[in-house]
Amino acid sequence: MSETNTVPVRKKRIYSGIQPSGMLTLGNYLGALKNWVAMQEEYDGIYGVMDLHAITVRQEPAKLRQQIYTTCALLLAIGLDPAKSILMVQSFVPAHAELAWILGCYTQFGELSRMTQFKDKSQKHPENINAGLFTYPALMAADILLYQADLVPVGADQKQHLEITRDIAVRMNNLYSGLFTVPDPYIPPAGARVMSLQDPAKKMSKSDENVNAWVAILDKPEDVMRKFKRAVTDSEARVCVGEGKDGVNNLIGIYAAVTGRTAQQIEAEFEGKGYGDFKTAVGEAVVETLRPVREAYDRLIADKGYLMSVYKEGSERAARLAARTLAKVRKKVGFVLEDK
Ligand code: TYM
Repeated sequence: MSETNTVPVRKKRIYSGIQPSGMLTLGNYLGALKNWVAMQEEYDGIYGVMDLHAITVRQEPAKLRQQIYTTCALLLAIGLDPAKSILMVQSFVPAHAELAWILGCYTQFGELSRMTQFKDKSQKHPENINAGLFTYPALMAADILLYQADLVPVGADQKQHLEITRDIAVRMNNLYSGLFTVPDPYIPPAGARVMSLQDPAKKMSKSDENVNAWVAILDKPEDVMRKFKRAVTDSEARVCVGEGKDGVNNLIGIYAAVTGRTAQQIEAEFEGKGYGDFKTAVGEAVVETLRPVREAYDRLIADKGYLMSVYKEGSERAARLAARTLAKVRKKVGFVLEDK
């Protein structure tokens, strides 16, 4: 066997996470989860179930616990492989909370006040505008910077959080050189912003009271089909991308994300056909994409012992990586290290 002199290049690192609050949607799947799986060969991925973030909105404890299990099972069901990627639960790694405190001291009130997610959630829950909701971006920055992540695959709604993460990283690097890798967002070309099927001017969200507005990853095929058949379109009856065609644009985007086809190919495929045919095709393509995920989920959720062993081991690996960054940060900001 001939030996080569090539030095193995360190794979780039990815960090991303999802809140275990409620049923996960097709938006979560197309905007984020699907890309995590697609990227797991090429990158060193760390993926988290972000339970600390979830309690910025009041949760029912028993329900939250169940949703954490559900989310843990779903990340495996979509095809993340614990032999290739690290799967963790955020609260299993206390370094997230510790770094969040430190970063919060380097984040300005003014910049947190400008966050649209804070403004939206404050409006939605006026009775519970808590400090955690306000400092949420400092915790998210900690999640990412702890692992010196190069890339963060997210949907378009998280772009502003990525920008503030970069600002915090650059600010700290200016004060204490070489502290953090400044991460780039990865926002997919199709599926980055899946809209409501009932009001396509709004983002698809599990908190929408109209159940026909959103598709859950675990929805039964007949429910998925019903929701797509009822999806709001327009009166033009032409399958093409266009202004004032938010409903159709959204369906084309979803179809593009699940089939890998371009908008032009989709327009050609449905030339001369009506919305009925188109909606059925989108529904069927989504059903087929989600079918293996639902089947794998049913098997995984039945074995909580296995699930927790995967996440415990992943969180331990994550904690070892996090400890390195945290030690560096503690030293640079001027804390005394216990072992010195
Ligand atoms: P979360 O839990 O709201 O959503 C998880 C991921 O799904 C994407 N997403 C969507 N993409 C397209 N269309 C939609 N309708 C849609 N709805 C949700 C989100 O953009 C996200 O990528 N703050 C994060 C969780 C988080 C995190 C992190 C992410 C905490 N720490 C560190 C990355 C890195 C959130 O609330 O995502």
